Amino acid sequence: MGYRTRLRRDPLACIEELSRDSTAEVMRLPWGGWCVRDSGLAQTLLRDPEYHTGGSVFFGELLPARGAQVELGRAVRGLLRAGLPRYRAALPEAVATLPPGSRWPDAGTRLVYRCLADVLLHPGTPGGSRELMRQAAHGGVAVRPPHVWQRARAELVRARLVTAVAEEAHRRRRQTAGEPRDMLDAVLAVCPEAEMSDRKVADLHLMMFRAIMAPVSAALAWAVLLACLHHTRPAPWPWPIDHVVREALRHRPVPWMLGRTLPRAVELGGTVFPPGELLSVCPYLLHHDERHWDSPDTFRPERWAGDSEHGPYVPFGMGPFSCAGAAVAHTLLTESLAALTDHAYLAVTGGDTRAAMSEGNVPRPFILHRTPDHPPAHDTRRG
Ligand code: HEM
Repeated sequence: MGYRTRLRRDPLACIEELSRDSTAEVMRLPWGGWCVRDSGLAQTLLRDPEYHTGGSVFFGELLPARGAQVELGRAVRGLLRAGLPRYRAALPEAVATLPPGSRWPDAGTRLVYRCLADVLLHPGTPGGSRELMRQAAHGGVAVRPPHVWQRARAELVRARLVTAVAEEAHRRRRQTAGEPRDMLDAVLAVCPEAEMSDRKVADLHLMMFRAIMAPVSAALAWAVLLACLHHTRPAPWPWPIDHVVREALRHRPVPWMLGRTLPRAVELGGTVFPPGELLSVCPYLLHHDERHWDSPDTFRPERWAGDSEHGPYVPFGMGPFSCAGAAVAHTLLTESLAALTDHAYLAVTGGDTRAAMSEGNVPRPFILHRTPDHPPAHDTRRG
């Protein structure tokens, strides 16, 4: 079977197989570029400035200045953090609207969006941009859908959303700026009109919308799926929610590869790589390295109860370009899971632990059954 077929069927098993078949610390990937297999070298690649260009791959040409990249990351993180009480307050109602059998990961994306919508574009935003953003979240713009026809339809919504947000950016630039009310205000604060067009501001807003929605939704769906597959009794989960989130992010990290394009010729693991070469770290391989993790292929939230047996853990990257929203993303996940398990038992049908490949590793569709539990479960599960 060719690697393309294997990759499509089970991307994580495919990369594991390639790694098993290789003895090199840095292995060539059949689809181009290199993957750093060795955990120590992988961390060096992510941490050491020797292997980075000045800006982050994440923002690329859309926001090239490193200072502005860092500022925007901080501004959006601050906004999300300030919006946490509102997110928490919106969760019970959002969870209550789930049907008894909800289809995931889409239902999780809708749940996260419903509770975050006001932070992304505040409710007073005139025009149709809020409705378009809702359609974008529900219709495959936030999370890349599997089928070509779905992607074509999402592309239409994306284009309309960007136009509407650009118009809104234009309107806001004519007003006096105050405290940021939403993510568009945060983007505008970092992007002076002289340097960035309304259209680019809208592109950046969309990029951050997807950077938040896609991994949070995927990680939430993995946590629900993995916990339910490993705890099938109609009883509260035996683990603190925090440990479930950590272990889900270890067992099925959402980012597939963290790539670095080399700015100059550099040596890694005894090989000299020319400038422009793409070297990547696969978080999944690091999280499943038997030399550093005990039974890495087992989903075991209890491993997070102690400090001892933790190997390299990079669900949010590492080093100067690591995720600006890691802590707040973690809180969004624990809050969401706490709301889902509050006074209810969860079970899944149709669950498959093989990943489907989107921009990252996402779970394949499954049905979540949420059964209210009375009397109320005690509240120690938040960890
Ligand atoms: C579970 C959810 C999330 C996961 C798994 C995740 C993962 C990551 C990873 C792995 C990177 C580093 C990419 C690299 O090294 O090339 C990254 C970068 C980034 N993430 Fe997240 N992320 C999540 C949620 C968020 C949220 C909620 C925000 C909102 C503030 C955010 C903002 C960013 C930004 C701004 C960067 C670029 C950092 C820079 O280059 O300076 N992420 N994310």
